[in-house]
Amino acid sequence: MGSRLIIEGGTPLKGTLEASGAKNACLPIMAASILAQGQVELERVPNISDVRVMASILDKIGVKVEFDAQAGHMLLDSSELTTTRAPEDLVRRMNASFDVMGPLLARCGHGEVSMPGGCRLGPRPVNYHIEAFRKLGAEVKVEGGFVKAQAKRLKGAHIIFPAVSVGATKNAMMAATMAEGTTILEGCAREPEISDLANFLIKMGAKISGVGSQTLRIEGVEKLHGAKHSIIADRIEGCTYLIGAAMTQGDLTIDKFEAEYSAAFLAQLEKAGQEVIVGEHYVRVKGRRPILPLEIATSPYPGFPTDLHPQIVALLSIANGVSALAETIFDSRFMYVMELVRLGADLLASGKYVRIRGVEQLVGAPVDAPDIRAGGALVMAGLAAQGETIIRGVKYIDRGYQKLEQNLRSLGAKIERVEEPLKELDQVPFQ
Ligand code: UD1
Repeated sequence: MGSRLIIEGGTPLKGTLEASGAKNACLPIMAASILAQGQVELERVPNISDVRVMASILDKIGVKVEFDAQAGHMLLDSSELTTTRAPEDLVRRMNASFDVMGPLLARCGHGEVSMPGGCRLGPRPVNYHIEAFRKLGAEVKVEGGFVKAQAKRLKGAHIIFPAVSVGATKNAMMAATMAEGTTILEGCAREPEISDLANFLIKMGAKISGVGSQTLRIEGVEKLHGAKHSIIADRIEGCTYLIGAAMTQGDLTIDKFEAEYSAAFLAQLEKAGQEVIVGEHYVRVKGRRPILPLEIATSPYPGFPTDLHPQIVALLSIANGVSALAETIFDSRFMYVMELVRLGADLLASGKYVRIRGVEQLVGAPVDAPDIRAGGALVMAGLAAQGETIIRGVKYIDRGYQKLEQNLRSLGAKIERVEEPLKELDQVPFQ
């Protein structure tokens, strides 16, 4: 069975949506629950497949997980862990699985997690994570496809990251919370989701200062306890919908949303001629014509997020003029380019750049979503296109966007999900 989304384009997105909890904060926070001796209670947990994969990994290592998906409420109890080996089949399904390594090592003195390896965005190395664990006194080896780390008790250290890494910052911070002595992490990533994780760790009893800055100071403690936490808003989900509003000349408000965390994106949207209204807990975008061309380079927070790269290119594909985007985080985040071209976009990818020559109108076509955010971009493009767009590869979209069709339908979109058995052509006999 493969799900497909069928979109009849041309209806402006109008109305209000409540932001979901952020995937990129929720996954490491779930992993951090391994550190707690006591119950962790999470609110605003998004009902997406990545959350269910993380819940399954935690379940396999002995964490008791209860998830009320409708209410976005999750209970995690790590009192009795049964193994420190994270199962390969689940870990390989998403890069964020490697987040369990730091907590396992800190809590149990041992962790074995399958190498996350590459993905459709390019290679996803973990050498900075491994180097940080070693500096904290762990013995780390890569063997049989697993990263294996052990240390009786980690020891505080001064770690300078060679480049900004979201993953390595999270893992080193979680590991250091229970190390003996003080750890200084320099050159940290500053994404709001990392600050949300740090704030959650502080609620569990961790001593972390410098939250939100490039330098984190962590005084190790003996034990961490349970805590209650509500996940911050998903800025990538919210901004994807705002792009849909701009593309369809709609009028969309995202509620319960901290707009300051999306400042770089919102500034570009304004520069593209769109009306952006920022309130204390919401952001509203009114789509305007013409859409003006932009020059953008992705970069770590507070720069323009790589996770909004395919979506902003979708918007610029119907701008009045020629735009350019440079992707500086990932080597091959360009698989969506040919799919947007199927919808009539005029794009040229070369090296780390995409040149976007605006066209007047996209036209519906069958397309394949190659990854989560590319999927988000194709849905927004389909909503703006003339006629019918059929999107395959919905499993990727389901990794990061909860209640996608329900949300979009509530804003007036014509979108349906069809569960279809694989057609003869999909079952090529000679594989
Ligand atoms: C990255 C993005 C994050 C995004 C996520 C999913 C940045 C800085 N990171 O986070 O915004 O939400 O993908 O799309 O924008 N690297 C190494 N060795 C390591 C770790 C990283 O060389 O051990 C390199 C990576 O190849 C990459 C860069 O550092 O070029 C940033 O990687 P990192 O931030 O760790 O990736 P994610 O945590 O997956």
